[in-house]
Amino acid sequence: MTMSAERGGSSGSADVRVLIPEPELRARVTSMGADVTRDYLGKPLVVIGVLKGSFIFLADLVRAIDLPLSVDFIGISSYQGTRSTGVVQITSDLTRPIEGKEVLLVEDIVDTGLTMRYLLDNLATRRPASVRVAALLEKPARAQVKIPIDYRGFEIADEFVVGYGLDRDGELRNLPFIGVARVK
Ligand code: IMP
Ligand code: MG
Repeated sequence: MTMSAERGGSSGSADVRVLIPEPELRARVTSMGADVTRDYLGKPLVVIGVLKGSFIFLADLVRAIDLPLSVDFIGISSYQGTRSTGVVQITSDLTRPIEGKEVLLVEDIVDTGLTMRYLLDNLATRRPASVRVAALLEKPARAQVKIPIDYRGFEIADEFVVGYGLDRDGELRNLPFIGVARVK
């Protein structure tokens, strides 16, 4: 899809083309929420969002999950520019222990997989009952480590994407669709 993004104002998205339009995102996230609801029936969940990129996806996903759940966030050092350094640092930790809890880790995109690998290893040391991964996007062409993604929104090609929480140098997170940005 190559329709151009008609949005003015501060998002300045003239150089962004729509890859996944809003209705497709909505339908897919609703269906992912139904899958989570079915899989965890009767089990209270802790949904952990990886800041900052997951915040919009998480907000939509939890509203599509019909289970008792709590939400927490973990902040990690962001990506400089557009390519992963593989160096991950926790900048803001969870507010509650996850020992014995069923955890759903929510990420915007699995690119090289290095961030998720680090987070999964880190969370495992806290002895949760289980950890599953929900990722809106996956770029299989860039994988350096294999990450088990239990709930995957879309597989995409090796293009730099923005919107729906994902940024380019801190901006464009507020686009309501997933778009492909010209890399600065
Ligand atoms: P990984 O460690 O290479 O898997 O990178 C994961 C993180 O890099 C994601 O959580 C995003 O914050 C960021 N990232 C990777 N690809 C993109 C992209 O295409 N657009 C925006 N951010 C990206
Ligand atoms: Mg991220």
